[in-house]
Amino acid sequence: MNGIELRNVTKRYGSDPSAPLAVKGISFEVPQGTLTTILGPSGCGKTTTLRMIAGLESPSSGQILMDGRDVTTLGPAERNVSMMFQSYALFPHMNVIENVAYGLRMGGVAKAAAHTRAADALRGVGLVGFDERLPSELSGGQQQRVALARALVLEPAVLLFDEPLSNLDARLRREMREEIRAIQQRLKLTVAYVTHDQSEALAVSDQIIVMDHGVIAQLGAPQALYGRPQSEFVAGFMGEAMVFAAVAREGGSVALGPLQFMPRHPVAPGAVKVAVRPEAWRIGEGEALPATLRKASYLGSYYEYSFETALGPVFVVSGDLARPLAAGASTALGLGEHGVSVVAQAPGG
Ligand SMILES: Nc1ncnc2c1ncn2[C@@H]1O[C@H](COP(=O)(O)OP(=O)(O)O)[C@@H](O)[C@H]1O
Ligand SMILES: [Mg+2]
Repeated sequence: MNGIELRNVTKRYGSDPSAPLAVKGISFEVPQGTLTTILGPSGCGKTTTLRMIAGLESPSSGQILMDGRDVTTLGPAERNVSMMFQSYALFPHMNVIENVAYGLRMGGVAKAAAHTRAADALRGVGLVGFDERLPSELSGGQQQRVALARALVLEPAVLLFDEPLSNLDARLRREMREEIRAIQQRLKLTVAYVTHDQSEALAVSDQIIVMDHGVIAQLGAPQALYGRPQSEFVAGFMGEAMVFAAVAREGGSVALGPLQFMPRHPVAPGAVKVAVRPEAWRIGEGEALPATLRKASYLGSYYEYSFETALGPVFVVSGDLARPLAAGASTALGLGEHGVSVVAQAPGG
């Protein structure tokens, strides 16, 4: 196995054995040349996990392997890993080319050679003609590119990102995430990428690991996590979903009020919960749940509707711009093929 592998890794900060675990026995692989995001709410253990991969924190138990080699006890310098942080902390007194060449110079590369490689790295991230500028003379997006070039120029086997885009505005964030993904694919880098933003994770990942309170809630391809969440937590975290009480029948079908559907996985008969994405509802089609429109909002490329139904309020997103509904309208709702999942009960719920 190449790439990164964590085997049953735990982390407890400090020396008090009664202190809570920040990471509670997680195992996963980041296959070589692929990008895995670690996604989850603040405090769930993302940064701790990344810092253990970098060698900046040591696990309390478990093993970390890189390219099949046990690196658990090795320091950061012995791991061929580069990390890019949320605050990209360029050296303010050094110009762009010096910032990018710094790591090479520290590694003993001669100045001229280091500057040539730094210039190549800057070209690779699309920042040409700024070599002599100071960081204070650059926009946030340009500083981000310098930080990216500074990480890439070291040609690490593994590149780690900790919420690298959270200081940028929405448009720039989209542009930079596409760029990071393109560079990762072009150079076939092995990347672990921490974010709390589900759309960022969906956009860039080969694999997503959703963490919750120090454990892995679910792991898989973006389509699997969005389309087949296994828990209410993952359904809610991977995008909007409303969760309804439903009943699984003997024959395998699930009854959601007057609606029926066949779950993708066999479900034991009894009470279940069903998560429905707002785009999964079909308005005025199929088997029907009578619904009265309470509120309609036009958002340019789609409508948001709030219906009143026997199941309670139902939130629906509709791309049908040609036939908008007006508040007060009576219609019926059905379920589409995608975006309907039977999920595990939330703990305590
Ligand atoms: N240096 C530290 N010392 C003690 N506790 C820490 C330290 N760093 C993080 N923690 C705790 O570990 C848990 C996970 O933190 P962290 O990995 O930073 O989460 P995330 O990056 O997902 O927001 C949190 O409860 C946090 O308070
Ligand atoms: Mg963090």
